[in-house]
Amino acid sequence: LEQVVAALGLQHVEIGTAAVIERVDRTRAKTVEDAQAAYGGAVSLMREIDRLLQVNRHVSTTRVKGVVRSLVDNVLGNRYAMLQLTGLRNYDEYTFYHSANVAILSLALGSMVTTDYRFLSSLGVGALLHDIGKLSVDLDILNKPGALSPDEWANVRLHPVHGAEMVSLLPGVDKSAVVTILEHHMRFDATGYPSRTPPRRQHLASRIVAVADSYDAMTSRRSYSAARVQDEAMAMLAKSGGNSLDPALVRLFVRLMGVYPPRSVVRLTAGEIGIVLEPSPSDPLRPVVRVIAAPSGDFMEPVDIDLMQAPEVKIRGCIDPQLLNIDVDAYI
Ligand SMILES: [Fe+2]
Repeated sequence: LEQVVAALGLQHVEIGTAAVIERVDRTRAKTVEDAQAAYGGAVSLMREIDRLLQVNRHVSTTRVKGVVRSLVDNVLGNRYAMLQLTGLRNYDEYTFYHSANVAILSLALGSMVTTDYRFLSSLGVGALLHDIGKLSVDLDILNKPGALSPDEWANVRLHPVHGAEMVSLLPGVDKSAVVTILEHHMRFDATGYPSRTPPRRQHLASRIVAVADSYDAMTSRRSYSAARVQDEAMAMLAKSGGNSLDPALVRLFVRLMGVYPPRSVVRLTAGEIGIVLEPSPSDPLRPVVRVIAAPSGDFMEPVDIDLMQAPEVKIRGCIDPQLLNIDVDAYI
């Protein structure tokens, strides 16, 4: 041991019991099918939790950790396949899909900060369950088209506290996941809810989930607001940096997603329509785009263009796929 210590130039050695914290499946590259299975697993878990809560039962921690492990493995092994799935929605099951989207976006952003598996696992649990407290709020309130009454609003604002309480009862869940659920509506500028005195900074995982949550909420259609197109949401997010959101994390999020994130339907300079597949690592304005319609508006055999290799082509902006009746999933 002395020779090894001397050879490595170590300053000190700690002796203790070795333990396997998480089993990491990095033995094979993840495929698109793996990504779809991980996403589907997350949505069904949320459905199952909702069903169990209605009969006053809790989900097993092992089941939650299994789903999160698969999300982490897929985000680390096939980030862009996962990001192309985030943005799937179902109006009637909004919270289930929103939870899966926020978990994937949080893990992708978190993996740009660190690839520490333990951190990512508890970030994934906190992100997936961040709105679990909403499952007990009346759907008529959550989907109310107009403004909420003061009582209704007070009820909704309790969901981080209720969610943190619920998850703290699950044995074996990391405390930082509970903290993330509690803090996800606290803001970077120390406002938000629940209020805290004296003001203190949110946990890193809570700040990551807040960015992911804002982006997914802005790009979703709700009973009280229309969905924003992705480039508009990214611009609003950039404005929130330093106010509600951590500016360093917002900058990382733009680097992760680009100005035109995966799944965006975009119009190119000559008038063609395309779907963004993945951002460029060096220029947020020049992603890889799958062109699906000619300038005439006629749909064509899809062609992939890497805008980094085609300087003459530019993106004019995102468009709402519903306006043109485009089923994004049919093309990616
Ligand atoms: Fe929430």
